[in-house]
Amino acid sequence: MTKKMAVIILAAGQGTRMKSSLPKVLHAVTGKPMLRHVVDAAAQAGADHIIGVVAPNAPLIEHAMAPFHAVVQPVARGTGDAVRWAIQALPMDVEHAIVVFGDTPLVQAESLRALKDRLTQSDNPAVVVFGMDLVDPSAYGRIVRDNAGNVTAIVEFSEATPAQRSITLCNSGFMALDLTRCREWLANLKNDNSKGEYYLTDLVAMANDAGHKVAVVIGAEEESLGVNDRRDLAAAEAIMQRRLRDHLLRSGVTMIDPDTVYLCHDTVIAPDVLIEPNVVFGQGVTVDGGVTIKAFSHIEGAQIGSGAIIGPYARLRPGTIVAEKVKIGNFVEMKNTHLAEGAKVNHLSYLGDCTVGAHSNVGAGTITCNYDGYDKFGTVIGTGAFIGSNTSLVAPVTIGDGAIIGAGSVITRDVAPDELAIARQKQVTKSGWAQWFRDNKNKMKQQQKSG
Ligand code: UD1
Ligand code: CA
Repeated sequence: MTKKMAVIILAAGQGTRMKSSLPKVLHAVTGKPMLRHVVDAAAQAGADHIIGVVAPNAPLIEHAMAPFHAVVQPVARGTGDAVRWAIQALPMDVEHAIVVFGDTPLVQAESLRALKDRLTQSDNPAVVVFGMDLVDPSAYGRIVRDNAGNVTAIVEFSEATPAQRSITLCNSGFMALDLTRCREWLANLKNDNSKGEYYLTDLVAMANDAGHKVAVVIGAEEESLGVNDRRDLAAAEAIMQRRLRDHLLRSGVTMIDPDTVYLCHDTVIAPDVLIEPNVVFGQGVTVDGGVTIKAFSHIEGAQIGSGAIIGPYARLRPGTIVAEKVKIGNFVEMKNTHLAEGAKVNHLSYLGDCTVGAHSNVGAGTITCNYDGYDKFGTVIGTGAFIGSNTSLVAPVTIGDGAIIGAGSVITRDVAPDELAIARQKQVTKSGWAQWFRDNKNKMKQQQKSG
């Protein structure tokens, strides 16, 4: 029988360097809170239990753990103390625990699995640490090994001797624990160190003292990047964006200049989509195959059907659903609007709370007047309709199938199928007036100069 595994996510630190009213672990990377990235990696790694450790009065963080729970660490007395609180809350049949941090959004499920797998190998380590070999190891804890490569201790930077500080193998902070053995050592942790904290890392020396093996899995530095301030947050965002772009490129999406395309953690784009430079995807976008998204478009909460052409400079807001072969051109904004197959809105329009039937053409500058300052109202445009340029559709209003609206109209009443509606001032034409006007003006200017 495989042993029960828990992932413990430490998130009881203060995060003061973010200088934010929002708790640090709730800051988003690719549109998802950092803590949630860690929770999702834990779930993907097949954890039987996922448990957070949070500071008192952190309801937002507890909420972000859902459907998993968090225990409160009453006082932040160190990573070892935090893990003790989590373990007290776990059932006794959990034999393996992986400790990760809530502020390391780049951790991947494969690494958590690798830690767990190492724990079950035949040399039977009691602890497995996730190490990284760094050119510039700065203030990380150092992983000390003996000649045989066994890990004998982790020394915190503040405690390390100059010789230990020259070690480049660093502690990421992630660790897998065989709880059948570690429970006792955790109970015996001491805080006689420079910070007066209970260090989780002391388990390594304790395991060695008790004659048990400690192993190391060496991973990529970027996975354990801890976010402490907004500069780290931007660095994590850049790495995660690169991962998302890479994934799409591999899956058959073309990006002319990938570095300028910004994706969201949940962006779904089918193969054979072409994305031009400088496109931003917000939450909740799906794009079907064969779509072209032209430069400088901003898209969120939208579903785009196959073969559609969007942009350049289109803005699709939440609730936009467009069917196959729709065309949305430059400076067009849409919100809560459905376009049926082949509909076109090519220039300078705002459509809000609107449905447009198949193959209708919405002319340049058409605006739905959907808001009266208090409530929103809908506009319905049937199939095969033609809306002339610079039309205002004052909602609620319905334009029937096949109807034609004359350019420059302000439409306030429904238009029946196949009707023509023109709602604008009748044109006045005065023969010769322009010539008379110019002659008169020129004569006046001459008189002023000579006088
Ligand atoms: C820790 C490691 C260090 C490693 C480094 C990697 C220890 C003793 N040291 O140091 O070896 O190189 O991470 O980034 O483990 N936390 C709590 N409760 C506490 C204290 C911390 O939940 O009482 C949480 C924090 O919110 C954070 C994580 O644990 O998510 C790490 O704590 P932090 O104080 O940043 O540890 P470091 O000193 O960076
Ligand atoms: Ca830290």
